[in-house]
Amino acid sequence: MDSIVVTGGTPLNGQIAIAGAKNAALTLMPATLLSEEPLTLTNAPRLSDIKTMTALLQSLGVEVTSMQDGKVQVLSSHAMTSTTADYDIVRKMRASNLVLGPLLARHHEAVVSLPGGCAIGARPMDIHVTALEAMSAEIELKDGYLHAKAPGGLKGAKVPLRFASVGATENVLMAATLAKGTTVIENAAREPEIVDLAKCLRSMGAQIEGEGTRQITIQGVDRLGAATHPVVTDRIELGTYMLAPVFAGGEVECLGGRLDLVGSFVEKLDAAGVDVTETPDGLKVKRRTDRAKAVDVTTEVFPGFPTDLQAQMMAMLCTAEGTSVLEEKIFENRFMHAPELIRMGADIEVQGGVATVRGVERLKGAPVMATDLRASVSLILAGLAAEGETTVSRIYHLDRGYEHIEEKLSGVGAKIERVSA
Ligand code: EPZ
Repeated sequence: MDSIVVTGGTPLNGQIAIAGAKNAALTLMPATLLSEEPLTLTNAPRLSDIKTMTALLQSLGVEVTSMQDGKVQVLSSHAMTSTTADYDIVRKMRASNLVLGPLLARHHEAVVSLPGGCAIGARPMDIHVTALEAMSAEIELKDGYLHAKAPGGLKGAKVPLRFASVGATENVLMAATLAKGTTVIENAAREPEIVDLAKCLRSMGAQIEGEGTRQITIQGVDRLGAATHPVVTDRIELGTYMLAPVFAGGEVECLGGRLDLVGSFVEKLDAAGVDVTETPDGLKVKRRTDRAKAVDVTTEVFPGFPTDLQAQMMAMLCTAEGTSVLEEKIFENRFMHAPELIRMGADIEVQGGVATVRGVERLKGAPVMATDLRASVSLILAGLAAEGETTVSRIYHLDRGYEHIEEKLSGVGAKIERVSA
């Protein structure tokens, strides 16, 4: 298995191009199941999760053509062969469950494996199921699979979500585009990836209003057509690379970065003593002094502080001046990066969903292990500032969500390389 070796202490200067959003592409790709016309996605990220979603869609009979080194994906589901999403693919990536809504909407049936738990939590699907049942789907759990059918098609309905689940909002939004009548999603997730999905569905002919607010209204139509859609910038990759110069010093411009994608994150950076400046090409980031200040962080649904940036922020706060308290309110087990950071000399105390971080002068490089996607990148960032060498193993987690990370960071002066075991 590959590892990444980072040698700390070099200030970073230059530009990093931010890719299209993994979590947008993973819901835009299944949208092809709603139409027999082709869906072309541009600015697609080159990630292993995209390859997994491609394999899943191809197992259903979808044609997926990748062009321009994976930046353009052309998908067509005019010749479907199956409506079953197998466990061996779904267990690798929870987002596979996003084929449920589209398959039900257009094919009136779907058999989708429950994803099973993952490192950060149990990740059930009760909100998805309750919502689709409100639209007249009949869903039964058998042998670890959700067996769903909608004889005569889905019906528009009022769909209150008990929690603003991103995936459930996406499944219902896609399903409602072809349902008979009007669907109103209440307490909908407001993430930029939802807004991006709605834009794409609208360009396919869907009638949608209210995306980005707590209430989304969808008027079902008989069929959807072809579309070409640019994947929105990845706000989590953006936030991750914005932190790089805060760890290592220097100034980095994140090309494609937009303030509206990272509002609450930038507020916390400002409080921590970091300047973020809008430029014609993106966002420029530089810390005001040679040591960030401690800040408290609580993860919330958008537009609150994103759970997917919690690990990276914790790593940065390990060497901030003062004590920070981080509360993780979205997932039940998302502090697995803490023990690894402690190995590097961090002072962190975890009590349930709350972590208290007492800033130390400097971390020391050490061999550490990636446990999940965002935890792994927090260790790479910590290595940028640590004294000596940090070796991060199990970086297959990293390749799920960060394209060419060693090129992007070495491009701004980091001493980082990938070594094969
Ligand atoms: C999406 O996951 C993202 N993944 C996650 O990013 C992100 O962390 C998460 O949203 C929250 O922002 C993709 O978009 C592919 P949820 P999703 O449904 O849709 C509970 C990354 O690092 N819940 O909003 O699965 C659930 O257990 C990944 O890129 C239920 O209880 O998130 C969790 O505690 C990690 N029942 C909370 O809600 C349900 O039916 C948030 O889940 C659904 C969810």
